[in-house]
Formats: sequence, C-alpha cells, structure tokens
Amino acid sequence: MSHKRVAILISGGGSNMVSLVDSMIGDHPARPCLVLSNDAQAGGLVKAAERGIPTASVDHRPFKGDRAAFEAELLKPLEAAQPDIVCLAGFMRVLTGDFVSRFQGRMLNIHPSLLPKYKGLNTHARAIEAGDEEHGCSVHEVTAALDDGPILGQARLQIEPNDTPMTLAARVLVWEHKLYPAVLRRFSSGDHTPVLLP
Ligand code: GAR
Repeated sequence: MSHKRVAILISGGGSNMVSLVDSMIGDHPARPCLVLSNDAQAGGLVKAAERGIPTASVDHRPFKGDRAAFEAELLKPLEAAQPDIVCLAGFMRVLTGDFVSRFQGRMLNIHPSLLPKYKGLNTHARAIEAGDEEHGCSVHEVTAALDDGPILGQARLQIEPNDTPMTLAARVLVWEHKLYPAVLRRFSSGDHTPVLLP
C-alpha cells in the first residue's frame, strides 16, 4: 500500500504542523510531502526542515492583494509535491474559490473555535466576551466560504471564570494538537465521520 501524500500550509510557528508530521509514522496511512508557507521567516519551516520534510515559501506581500497571482505562485511547489491531501495549519491567508476547488474534498483546516461559532479572527476573546461556557477547536473540510465546510472533528473544553484570551488559546492549542492528528489519520484512511474529543 502506498501512503497518502500530505502537504501542510503554515504561516507561523507551525505547532499544529509539527503535531501532524510527528503523527505520520508507523502504520499511519499518510506521510508528509511538503510544508509550504506564505512567509519565508515562519518558524515552522525550520521545524519541518529539521524533520527532513521538503519546504517552500511564497511571500504574499509583493502581490499586494492580487490573490489569484499569489495563488498561481503557491500552486507551483504545491502541485509539484503531488499531494493527495492538503492541510491548512495556521495558514492565515484567505484562499479563493478557484484555488480551493482544485483540492475539493481533500483540503482540511483547523480553526480555534467550535464552528459554526466564531469564524474569522480573535475567536478566544469573542467566546469569553459572549459569556460562553465552552469553547474549543474544529477541523473541517475547506470550501470556498471562510471557515465553513463539513466538520471532521471538534474538541471542547470549559471556559474558566479567570480565563483570558491568552490562557484560553493555550488550552485550546493543547487540544488542537490532539484533534488534528486524530482527524488526519481517520480522513486519510477514507473515513470522514467526525472525531469528537475528549
Ligand atoms: C492555531 O491556533 C490555529 O488553530 C489558528 O492559528 C494557530 C496556529 O498555530 N488558525 C487560525 O486561526 C486559522 N484562521 P501554529 O502555527 O502553532 O499551528
């Protein structure tokens, strides 16, 4: 059996990318084929290279908002890596419908909220401000609409009375690192039923 090839897109520290890469060993049906960033300085690129994974970056800034032109460049290393599955892991650029449709049904994203709540940014602060009792993270299939698409897994936790956006983000991140690898393993074996944690 040949392994599914997984490309991972990042923008920053890449802690979710590391949790995915480190999970793809042994009898896991997938292996990493590329870590790609929109920022050559992203800390995650070093961590990927240390793990022997091919890396590439395409700086979005020279494209000055021309998403189609940026994505055309992003597609070059991505398509060359021939991924079966594309994982967005803290990738902070909005992708066009054209780009997303190329990977329809095989592109995943992790988002730090219990979707459909709190699409977009500042999710932890918004959950606290709303007085929510629970919060968490979601992995979903990527569709053209932002932070939308079928849910493939969620992890929930209680918001504590003294939580700040920072303390909450740190606790959610611990669950992200459990959820995303669990979803990727299940998804790459062809099973799309949601993973629910804890
Ligand atoms: C993670 O919390 C991820 O859920 C979030 O960015 C962080 C990246 O951390 N993603 C989004 O907000 C997507 N809109 P990491 O680089 O350490 O994985």
